Amino acid sequence: MRRLENKIAVITGAGRGIGFAAAVAFAREGAKVVIAEIDDQTGRRAAERIRNLDADAAFVRTDCSRPEEVQNLMARTLELYGGLNVLYNNASVFLRDDAPATQLDEAVWQRVLRTNLDSVFLCSKYGIPLIVASGGGSVINTGSSASLIGIPGCDAYTAAKGATVALTRSLAVTYGRKGVRVNCICPAGVETEMLRQSNLENPDFDSEFFFSRAPLARFGTPEEIAQVAVFLASDESSYINGAILRADGGITIAPIS
Ligand SMILES: NC(=O)c1ccc[n+]([C@@H]2O[C@H](COP(=O)([O-])OP(=O)(O)OC[C@H]3O[C@@H](n4cnc5c(N)ncnc54)[C@H](O)[C@@H]3O)[C@@H](O)[C@H]2O)c1
Repeated sequence: MRRLENKIAVITGAGRGIGFAAAVAFAREGAKVVIAEIDDQTGRRAAERIRNLDADAAFVRTDCSRPEEVQNLMARTLELYGGLNVLYNNASVFLRDDAPATQLDEAVWQRVLRTNLDSVFLCSKYGIPLIVASGGGSVINTGSSASLIGIPGCDAYTAAKGATVALTRSLAVTYGRKGVRVNCICPAGVETEMLRQSNLENPDFDSEFFFSRAPLARFGTPEEIAQVAVFLASDESSYINGAILRADGGITIAPIS
């Protein structure tokens, strides 16, 4: 039997990057996957590509920072598949005009917090009751190295990712009793469009410093993070609740040399 056979999963931001890799990995393990993505084109294409693997997938265009769209996402999931077992809160943005607090525009702060943190709250608010009604399951949140260590220059992103870790813990202690496990993956340096926009195109980003500091001396791949998510979604992790899992090649525990 495959590791996610018959599980119903919503993955936010699954049109590309880590979310798409997770959608493929979940589908290969037998899950029915709902792609909740703001971008119509990538969302549609992602669902098509998964259906081409002979798996069950649907695209529900969703801005996960908007309550009415998240409510629609959960209602469509219920209509399509009759329940929900796994909610993977993956969607987020990294904005180039994010900045240190003294230079940060209030509108940028609000947009980042809305997209990266409100979305986790809203998907939890409207998704967890479905998971409970389906007999329990798994919520997977997404932090970052910025949740764990001081990353300069992006205070809105950092605040949202830090709060996601705190919210993971409070959800885990509240909903564990109802059979819902809540955990958080903290990636860093994963080869996606976000990495390109946030670091590789940033003239201040010192990739030599990164590689000299990173214990594995390389970036990660979306598929490597997707495998962590498969584990947290599956019953193999049935006693893991409230865990903050670093999937960063050890970058956040590396000594400064
Ligand atoms: N790539 C990295 O190095 C890295 C490092 C740390 C954390 N992360 C986290 O991992 C997750 C995935 O990152 P990625 O690198 O795959 O990013 P990405 O930018 O490649 O993909 C993010 C996806 O989310 C979608 N999205 C954005 N706003 C949305 C919204 N309001 N509603 C629905 N969908 C929305 C985008 O359209 C996109 O498809 C994010 O939470 C990110 O913060 C990534």
